[in-house]
Amino acid sequence: MNLQCFNLEIQDGWALLEMARPEKLNVLDGNVLRELESILETLKAQKVKAVVLTGQGKAFAAGADVAAMAEMDCHEATLFSALGNRVFQGIEDHPAVFIAAVNGYALGGGCELALACDLRIASEQATFGQPEINLGIIPGFGGTQRLPRIVGTARAKEWIFTGKRFSAQEALNAGLVSRVLPPEQLVPEARTLAEELAKKSGPILSLAKQAIAASGTGVSSRHGEQEAEYFGKCLDTEDGPEGLKAFVEKRVPVFNDR
Ligand code: COA
Repeated sequence: MNLQCFNLEIQDGWALLEMARPEKLNVLDGNVLRELESILETLKAQKVKAVVLTGQGKAFAAGADVAAMAEMDCHEATLFSALGNRVFQGIEDHPAVFIAAVNGYALGGGCELALACDLRIASEQATFGQPEINLGIIPGFGGTQRLPRIVGTARAKEWIFTGKRFSAQEALNAGLVSRVLPPEQLVPEARTLAEELAKKSGPILSLAKQAIAASGTGVSSRHGEQEAEYFGKCLDTEDGPEGLKAFVEKRVPVFNDR
């Protein structure tokens, strides 16, 4: 596979998938999302049973591409959110078990990408957050649907409404990650876990994943479509475009409640 935004190493029954644009803090734009979607198909075709997903550099992923979103109208934003939701749903519905090894910043779409994975372990240096509210938008890649299911509505609302960042330790306390490790142990530990899972039966692992999703904790494409509609509406306000433009211009946004 000729990849521009990722490195993919397929091993015996498992894979290491790295977001490989450290200079861009692994920001998620349309090209990254479409490449990820095609990688998901390859992993399926290769019958990979476990995937370690991590980021190169200081970020897991610093979110969706704000500069690109600042140019979008309501319709384009709805489509962008629908694309992110579809690709992340592809992880949730994938037969393989995805392990997010969160190495650094997991903000906005980066946090949502980790939420779409089955297991999450974090480096002590990881920082999480859904800062969209400060940009005049809402999470658009599944965060409004997955965060409450994973950490409960009270915490999810606090994090989404305030946009504040939280540490790996806070993520552990909230049940968002299952382990926090020194940075140098993060990927080795995730690889060991993936190797262990690759020794199980692939179809049975996949059935276990589907059964757990059916418990009511899973998100379906219908949820993503609804979120995309609300996300698009943010761009139909005055405050949405102002928040995004302010980020690009490196200034504090002026919200007028319109
Ligand atoms: N979209 C577009 N560009 C982004 C980005 C994003 N989500 N996150 C970072 N960048 C860009 C910055 O604008 C900067 O560009 P420049 O070099 O042209 O000025 C570059 O990436 C490096 O970021 P910088 O802010 O200088 O790095 P930092 O180490 O000081 O801070 C972060 C890192 C992650 C804390 C900070 O970049 C940040 O807050 N990013 C936005 C996170 C966010 O709100 N994500 C949700 C989007 S919905």
